[in-house]
Amino acid sequence: MARILITSAIPYINGIKHLGNLVGSQLPADLYARYMRQRGHEVLFLCATDEHGTPAELAAAKAGKPVAEYCAEMWATQKALSDGFRLSFDKFGRSSSVQNRALTQHFAGKLDDNGLIEEVTESQVYSHADGRFLPDRYIEGTCPNCGYEHARGDQCENCTKQLDPTDLINPRSAISGSTDLEVRETKHLYLKQRSLRGQLSDWIDSKTDWPVLTTSIAKKWLNDGDGLQDRGITRDLDWGVPVMKGTAPWPGMEGKVFYVWFDAPIEYIACAKEWTDADGRPDAEWERWWRTDKGADDVRYVQFMGKDNVPFHTLSFPATLIGSGEPWKMVDYIKSFNYLNYDGGQFSTSQGRGVFMDQALEILPADYWRWWLLSHAPENSDSEFTWENFQASVNKDLADVLGNFVSRVTKFCRSKFGTDVPDGGAWGDDEAALIARLETGLRAYETHMEAMEVRKAAGELRALWVAGNEYLQSAAPWAVFKEDPARAAAIVRLALNLIRLYAVISRPFIPDASAAMLAAMKTEDDGWPDDLAAALGVLEVGHSFDVPDVLFAKISDEERDTWAERFSGVRD
Ligand code: MF3
Ligand code: ZN
Repeated sequence: MARILITSAIPYINGIKHLGNLVGSQLPADLYARYMRQRGHEVLFLCATDEHGTPAELAAAKAGKPVAEYCAEMWATQKALSDGFRLSFDKFGRSSSVQNRALTQHFAGKLDDNGLIEEVTESQVYSHADGRFLPDRYIEGTCPNCGYEHARGDQCENCTKQLDPTDLINPRSAISGSTDLEVRETKHLYLKQRSLRGQLSDWIDSKTDWPVLTTSIAKKWLNDGDGLQDRGITRDLDWGVPVMKGTAPWPGMEGKVFYVWFDAPIEYIACAKEWTDADGRPDAEWERWWRTDKGADDVRYVQFMGKDNVPFHTLSFPATLIGSGEPWKMVDYIKSFNYLNYDGGQFSTSQGRGVFMDQALEILPADYWRWWLLSHAPENSDSEFTWENFQASVNKDLADVLGNFVSRVTKFCRSKFGTDVPDGGAWGDDEAALIARLETGLRAYETHMEAMEVRKAAGELRALWVAGNEYLQSAAPWAVFKEDPARAAAIVRLALNLIRLYAVISRPFIPDASAAMLAAMKTEDDGWPDDLAAALGVLEVGHSFDVPDVLFAKISDEERDTWAERFSGVRD
């Protein structure tokens, strides 16, 4: 039995996430966590909301609420939705927790003790009307290069020229529109990442089994152009972790907070502490996952994230951990994803384009989405959600193949033998051939699940469902029954056991349907089929079962068209 720590990139607090966000980290992380638990490993699966920074402040202002209140409400909303999608986090924490605050301040203190923090004086734009410094992208003005009037302080969208806010002609606040701006000097803390370059490079080189997508992004940022830059880890904002050196004040840093990307990954650790504290467990509990001097040296740590997050997890966060000089557990494997597009374009939170988590659950149960999203996960390239494809997958894989198998077998048995596993007959060559085929497929499925090859795993699972259908079709117990009822009973006995087997192996993908199948088979035996022949004999002669309700309803063309129209843009 291994110990596996799993984290999903923590979603931003400022709004409900869309299905592209979901499939880029939380959902595949859940698939892996569920599978590993089922295989008997000890798993700690963590996620949280990423609550600090300007986007959170602005979203709260737009909602007309104090930012702390907004975050608390949005955390509850996101938590309910992750429960709705059956994401099996051991803890869904908050980056604004007291635990994260203390740990973030602790790390900053250690980095400073180790000579890795430098104070830098910068010029920044202060807005009198807004009463705050404005981050670059919240300053708007005319581009000095092309004359575009809505250029942002970091870049002109029109001609793509990179800008400094002070380059803009007629600069104004993007928050209030005010032109009452002033350039002020302000001091910030920088993390001297450049001096950790050698250690980071060695560490990345030691990860020979990482996916190409992960390693290529890490190396690009490590080596391209000027290579790794020192980075500012503080901001002039109100909302965030106050800058402190451990528990002591940091002279000159009063009123400032840490940069959101500094405290967010530390929440992975803090989240484990939140989990411990919530149930009053001793500190040893979270430390055995996170401190290599306290037992975490035999933990395997796997992170899931979208590709845009890779630099922060391969360079910035490791720089924090290494730079602390303390024995923190470092990530062993990073599974990263490309993007999911929506119907010929991109999902867009600002334009409300695409399906968002709350809307998805309003129209269909979680398993339908889980199946489609995971079986089309954007692993090797970007992938695309279309309603046609979604309808086709659901109707074929879930309704015609799996659902239909369950319903045909249970109904046929009830009509001919009653609702107990029937006696009589024997298995022959057809059954031996099926079992051999299942054996090969099942072991391939295990290999893909272990390797986090999500699409391949889904493909194998589907092939296992298909194999059962094909067997049933060719064994044709309904035809055999007239001549040889005992033989028909033997076929049905196998098929009923297959339903239980499918429930067990499909659970990481479609947990609710799996539970419904096990309930219909009236069994709690959900042991993994290490021995396939034994697994197909769990439901013995005389064991009673129920005919379940329809597991998966088909999506009609009309529903498909209505939904395509409804989600084409601008949320109501
Ligand atoms: N909130 C970020 C995003 O959604 C992810 C933060 S991951 C962490 O892109 F490592 F910083 F926590
Ligand atoms: Zn321009």
